[in-house]
Amino acid sequence: MITSTILCIPRGLALCSVQFVPAFMDASPAKCGPKSNGTATVPLHQGAPLRILPLGDSITFGYDELSEKSYRRYLKCLLHSGGNPVTLIGSIQHGDWANNLNDGFNLHTIDQNLEAGTPELTRKAEGPNIILLHAGTVNFVLKLNVTNAVSRLSNLVDFITEHNPAALLVVAQLIPNANATTPSFINHYNSQVPEVVQSRAQSG
Ligand SMILES: *[C@@H]1O[C@H](CO)[C@@H](O)[C@H](O)[C@H]1NC(C)=O
Ligand SMILES: *[C@@H]1O[C@H](CO)[C@@H](O)[C@H](O)[C@H]1NC(C)=O
Ligand SMILES: *[C@@H]1O[C@H](CO)[C@@H](O)[C@H](O)[C@H]1NC(C)=O
Repeated sequence: MITSTILCIPRGLALCSVQFVPAFMDASPAKCGPKSNGTATVPLHQGAPLRILPLGDSITFGYDELSEKSYRRYLKCLLHSGGNPVTLIGSIQHGDWANNLNDGFNLHTIDQNLEAGTPELTRKAEGPNIILLHAGTVNFVLKLNVTNAVSRLSNLVDFITEHNPAALLVVAQLIPNANATTPSFINHYNSQVPEVVQSRAQSG
């Protein structure tokens, strides 16, 4: 079972306590309606419409995944079942369902995610009110900026919050990757992610 620990900026919002377990959620169309068997039973923020920008590496895109669902589909269902209308936004269309936009970039390092994600992260109108970030895997698979990956993440987080001060940013620790040649660095990176988030959440 793979779970992602999720940390948020700013702290204290309801979504911060959500831990999603994609493998155990059924997101088939029949179960993706308001009555689906998701674990969300209460709406966030009185059912406010959520505009979610999923940003990050191929996990976000759904690379090589059956039905190209990625976690995005499951999360959308979960939130929808709880009573929040969800619009996924991004520059890329991917997935076998409608409402499948995202900024998931295959084989992109953290810095390349920033570059590719800049148009969505800096859009003036109809911007995201929630940004989901899972980035860094490619640094460890391709051995690019491995030892300074934490500072590259900090740089990306700062860019995101500077341009989207009102949005909730959710930063995931990296899920395990079979191709990563530097697992000890991933462990180190994951151990640093909470600090990157918390130091910024505390400073507003
Ligand atoms: C709904 O989810 C719960 C918790 O995962 C599970 O025990 C139950 O079997 C599910 N019910 C249906 C109808 O899928
Ligand atoms: C590596 O990090 C530097 C900043 O230290 C950045 O300019 C560069 O784009 C990064 N390279 C990759 C491939 O991510
Ligand atoms: C590992 O790399 C191979 C070859 O590029 C690819 O086919 C496979 O999907 C990758 N596995 C993971 C877990 O990323």
